[in-house]
This record gives sequence, structure tokens and C-alpha cells, in this order.
Amino acid sequence: MRRSVITGTGSYLPERVLTNQELATFVDTSDEWIRTRTGIRQRHVAAENEMTSDLATRAARRALDAARLSPVDIDTVLVATTTPDYTFPATACVVQDKLGVPAGAMAFDLQAVCSGFIYGLTVADSLIRAGQARHVLLIGAETLTRLLDWEDRATCVLFGDGAGAVVLQAAEGAGTVADRGVLHTVSRADGRHRDLLHTDGGPSSTGTVGKLRMQGREVFRHAVTNIADAMREVMEAAGVSADDIDLFVPHQANVRILEATAKKLGIPAERIMLTIAEHGNTSAASIPLALDTAVREGRAKPGDLLLLEAMGGGFTWGAALLRL
Ligand code: ACO
Repeated sequence: MRRSVITGTGSYLPERVLTNQELATFVDTSDEWIRTRTGIRQRHVAAENEMTSDLATRAARRALDAARLSPVDIDTVLVATTTPDYTFPATACVVQDKLGVPAGAMAFDLQAVCSGFIYGLTVADSLIRAGQARHVLLIGAETLTRLLDWEDRATCVLFGDGAGAVVLQAAEGAGTVADRGVLHTVSRADGRHRDLLHTDGGPSSTGTVGKLRMQGREVFRHAVTNIADAMREVMEAAGVSADDIDLFVPHQANVRILEATAKKLGIPAERIMLTIAEHGNTSAASIPLALDTAVREGRAKPGDLLLLEAMGGGFTWGAALLRL
């Protein structure tokens, strides 16, 4: 059975760090409020001349190095992002050019907000299984701080910039849960709730980019239920239990959401990968950033069973089970 195996991970964070203390000098908030409600201590902010494609390209180079591949080996570039450089062309095409991935490769962006990386895994795995791709560069990259209304303290304290990337390669497996690679994914949406988390602009509505708007309490309520359902679904489909999970690598939205979800599923706190304190919520970049951090810190090793989940605007949500 054909499997999509992650053979390299990489990430990049902009140099500039914005701490809660510094944020509190120009927003009516406090380090204590942000830390206790969300777990965030700081976030990274892209430099003025740094675009999403720049962050994506740096993360991708590191993932390619880790996979011992060169850009010429890549046949598909998929960028999950809500903050593309331009309305078009796709940021993936910019990254293709900056990296030197040969002409003729497939390159496109995927817009599923914070669930972009899970959706991307579903798409990349489907392309590989269908024989349409063999070496996929899947990147989650965001300059989300550019969508923030710095007058809205309920949202501007939550988000940060960054990028994470993985190389997925086709490999043959036995078709069992012992195989390396993506074992099962679910990607879901419910557009009825789109107003609870959205931007108030876009090319076809206002002709502007818009700012991020969110009804935090409502998002929180839906998040815990949807995420837990998706996680249960992938575990049941693969026939594994919470005890089998070596590391839980969730979308880093809010420490309270992910601890509540892990508890619901019976995953102990020491098996949760947490990067939210340092990164904030980096939307589609947050899972691959956390995954690369886990790999580089030795917390996720080849052969480990990983459970990933995300939820975001749309609503979109999903989960993925994979063996590294
Ligand atoms: N600093 C200080 N006070 C604040 C801040 C702030 N940054 N933001 C809001 N407050 C105040 C409000 O004004 C309000 O004051 P009031 O009671 O005097 O009116 C009080 O704090 C409570 O406000 P709520 O918005 O009800 O705060 P809540 O306890 O719900 O926490 C939060 C807000 C942290 C956003 C929470 O709702 C949450 O985490 N929701 C999930 C949203 C999320 O993670 N979204 C990310 C994108 S989606 C995803 O990735 C899952």
C-alpha cells in the first residue's frame, strides 16, 4: 500500500520577538491576562520587508536539508496560508521560484485558515496515493500579524508570524498501523459559522484585505467539541487508542483548548507538544512549527505515532494520525 512518509521537517521564525510586556505598552492588556487566558508569553513578528513566501522558503530549505533532498527533486509545492503575498499568483508559485523547484511542478495555495496544515496533509496524502505526486513540499506559512486590528485587544494579543514545512515522500507500506507515514486524516467544515471568525474584507467583497474579527467564547465552545470528535474519528479509523499516541501535536491556539481536548481524549499532559508560549497562534504554520520543534528537541523520533489536530475560521477543523 502506498504511504506518504514525512522524511524531513523545517521551520522558520522571524527575528523580531514581541513579548506580552512590550505589547502591554501599546495595547490595554497585561502579561498576566494573556498568560492565564491563553498560555502565550511572546510571538514573532515578520520584518516590514519579509513576506509569507520568505518565511515559507526558509522553512522549506530546512525541511529539504533534513530530508537530504534538493529542490529539483520536488514535484509538488503546497502552501497552506491565510496571508498570501498577493491575491494572486499563489504564494506556492513564488516559493517555487525562490527555492528553485523546476518548472512543470504543481504549485498551489490552500486556504483553510488554522486548519490549513491538516487539510494540506489530506490533499498531499491523496495526491501521493493516487500516484499524482511523489515528493511533496507541504508548507504552512503566515504573516498573520498583518491582519490584526491592534485596537482590538481580544484578538491582537493571540497571533504571531512563522512558517513550518514538511517533505512527504511516497513509500510502500504493509497497510497496517505499524507503517511509517500518514495513516488517516479527516478534514471537515461547517460554513454556517463563518461569521464567528473571519476578516471583514476581501478582493471580491470590499476590495481590501480586511482585519481579523472573532467571537472568542463561541469559537472556544465549538473548538473543543469539533477537535475531540475529529481526533476520536482518526484514532477509531486506524484502530488505535490514546495510550498508543507517543506525541500529541495540536494547533497552538490556546493552551486551555488543547489541554481540555487532551483531557477529554485521555492523553496525559506530558505527551502534549506545546510551543504556544513562544510562538502564539501562527494559524496554518503552528502544527508544522510545533512538529519541527519536537523533532529537533528529540521529543518526536522516527517510528513515533503522532496525533495532530486543528480548528479555524470557516469553521474548518480536522485531525491526522501519522507515524514518523
Ligand atoms: N487584555 C485584557 N482584558 C481583555 C483582553 C486582553 N487582551 N481581551 C479581552 N479582555 C477583557 C474583555 O474586555 C472582557 O472584559 P469585561 O468582562 O470587562 O467586558 C473580559 O476580558 C472577558 O472577555 P472575553 O472575550 O469574554 O474573554 P474570554 O475569557 O472568552 O477569553 C479568549 C478570550 C482568550 C480569546 C478566549 O475566548 C479564547 O481563547 N477563545 C478561543 C479563540 C481562539 O483561540 N481563536 C484562535 C483562532 S481559532 C483557533 O485557532 C482554534
